[in-house]
Parts: sequence; structure tokens; C-alpha cells
Amino acid sequence: MSTIRVDQQSPDPAAIEQAAAVLRAGGLVAFPTETVYGLGANALDSEAVARIFAAKGRPSYNPLIVHVHDAAVARALAAAWPAGADACADSFWPGPLTLVVARAPHVPDAVTAGLPTVAIRVPAHPVARALLKAAEIPVAAPSANRSTELSPTLAEHVQKSLGGKVDLILDAGPTPVGIESTVIDLSGSAPVLLRPGSLSQATLERVLGPLMLSASAGHSRDARPSPGMLDRHYAPQAELRLFTPCGVLDVRPDYRVGALLLSCEAMAHHKIRMPGDPESYAQRLYAELHSLDDAGCDLILVERVPETAEWAGVRDRLNRAARRG
Ligand code: TXA
Ligand code: MG
Repeated sequence: MSTIRVDQQSPDPAAIEQAAAVLRAGGLVAFPTETVYGLGANALDSEAVARIFAAKGRPSYNPLIVHVHDAAVARALAAAWPAGADACADSFWPGPLTLVVARAPHVPDAVTAGLPTVAIRVPAHPVARALLKAAEIPVAAPSANRSTELSPTLAEHVQKSLGGKVDLILDAGPTPVGIESTVIDLSGSAPVLLRPGSLSQATLERVLGPLMLSASAGHSRDARPSPGMLDRHYAPQAELRLFTPCGVLDVRPDYRVGALLLSCEAMAHHKIRMPGDPESYAQRLYAELHSLDDAGCDLILVERVPETAEWAGVRDRLNRAARRG
């Protein structure tokens, strides 16, 4: 395993070609996207895709997102390409949006977990774009962490979580968005928001019209849930507990405690003051949780973020991380 440091804006073509060759040969490459680092493999090679599941300890029922260079390549992976997909591609790609559409027959079962649909996204990060262009293959890539754990926003996080299981890591420093892409299912009669992200619901609805909210997001009983989104997820090693200002906190006296704070105070060994806007908060969230884990915290207290729509992506990740078991 080796790590190659590349420039975030204009990565060295030789490094990109080396990573592309690993992908074409069926290997695993961790690479930055604008959201989080992904663990990539050739999406059309079932054995390469199986290596992703093995490295992450990911259950085989949880399908992967396929990363492609542009909308034309995306379309070729779909059996049907609804008008909403064109509208989203025009407005939001390249960018942190994943579309679930009916899959073309040549997309392996390993990628889709046997579902009749495939999740596709065109990432915006210059390193991801250069890699996809050089590799000339669609790249299946979940977040580059062991299953259920925190997503990586730095190459060091990938190293810590997956270490020797990756053939090559492209290190381009911190990822700018910091939480995973918004996932929208366009395969049914109405668009369904499966996972909120940095794009607000209002922004998406301006392009797509009304969005149904997924059952896994706890909003609706009717909508189809996304298979990978039912469990505890995005969680640090430490117990994570959300708290409301003025609430009474019952904390074991022997616990090493960390806290992510917005406006209030808490008794903690490690206190981190978080930014008050959702974009900056999202950008820092996983790195701060990784650092509190590294500091040996048993418990991380997180001040609840506002209930407003622009905080939906961050709120979703915090709620999942706080879920026990
Ligand atoms: O920002 C991101 O999306 C990052 C970067 C690397 O692109 N990737 C990422 O992948 O977060 P992952 O595997 O950690 O999350 C993919 C999510 C899972 O919740 C999975 O269940 C859902 O997308 N998904 C994938 N294919 C699906 C499908 N055919 N139908 C419904 N949900 C699907
Ligand atoms: Mg993940």
C-alpha cells in the first residue's frame, strides 16, 4: 500500500495514471471526492467490487454508488433515464448528488446488491474527475472507512480505518463538503429523498418538484427505504449523545468526555466550538469526531443543531451516529 500526495486543484498526471492503472487492474484506490474520501474499484468487475466489500466489512445487501466522469457515461449505466435525471444532471453535476435509476443489464449484481436500480454520481473534486477520466471505467466507491464507522475527510482517516487493505491512497488534503452526497431515487413514479446532504431540499425541489422523504429518514411509512440506511452509521468509536442546552446530563464520572458545542457550555475534557453555519459545520464534523476518538473519549456530547432545513444533512448524520446498536 502506498499513499501519493497530490495537489487538490491540479494533480500530477503521472500519479493519476498510476492510480487509474491500479483500478483497471482490479485493485482498490482510495481517492478524494468533494464530500468524503471514496474506496474505488472498477464497477464493471465483480471481483474488484467484492474486494471493496471485504475491505470495509460491508454487508453484501448494501449497494454501492458508481462514480462516472459525466452524464453521458451515467446514462449508459441506466436502463431508463427519466426527465428528472436530466434536470438534476444539468443543475447539480458535477457535484454532491447521487441519482438512483433503473440499472442497465451490464451493471453487476455485486454493485447493486441485486437491486433493479443503480446509484450514480458525477463528483466535482478535480482529483476524482482526473482519475475517472484517466481510468475510462465507471468506479464503484463507498466511503473509504470500515462499515458503520465515520467517513474519512482526510487521507489519514482512510489510513487509520483501512490501512493495508487499500492498494493506493491519493491524498489531496481535507474534502471540502465533509458529509456524504444527497441520494435521490428517481426510479419510481415520484422522486424520493433517500439521504439528505449538503444540497437543501428547497434547492432540489426547484428542479425536481416535490420530493417524498424516505422511510429510513423517519418521515414516511410508504416510501422505499435505502438498504444501507437502516442501521447505526457514521458513528465514532465513542458513544455519541445529543443534548439540548439546559438539559441535565448524566455522565459516568470515569468517562473521558468530548463535546461539540455551538452556543452552550458542557463539562468535558475536550471541548470543540463548532461553526454556526451548516456548511462549515459539515466540513469539520467528521474530522472533529475522529480527533475525539483519537483522544480516547468514551463519550462525545453533541449540542443539537437547529431544526431548520439547511441543517438536514448534518442532523441526519448526528442522529444516525447517536443511534445505539
Ligand atoms: O458522498 C458520497 O456519496 C460518498 C462518496 C465517496 O461519493 N459515498 C458514499 O457511499 O457515501 P456509501 O456507500 O457510504 O453510501 C451509499 C449510500 C448507501 O446508503 C446505499 O444504501 C445507497 O447509497 N444506495 C446505493 N445504491 C442504491 C440503490 N440502488 N438504491 C437505493 N440506495 C442505494
Ligand atoms: Mg459510508
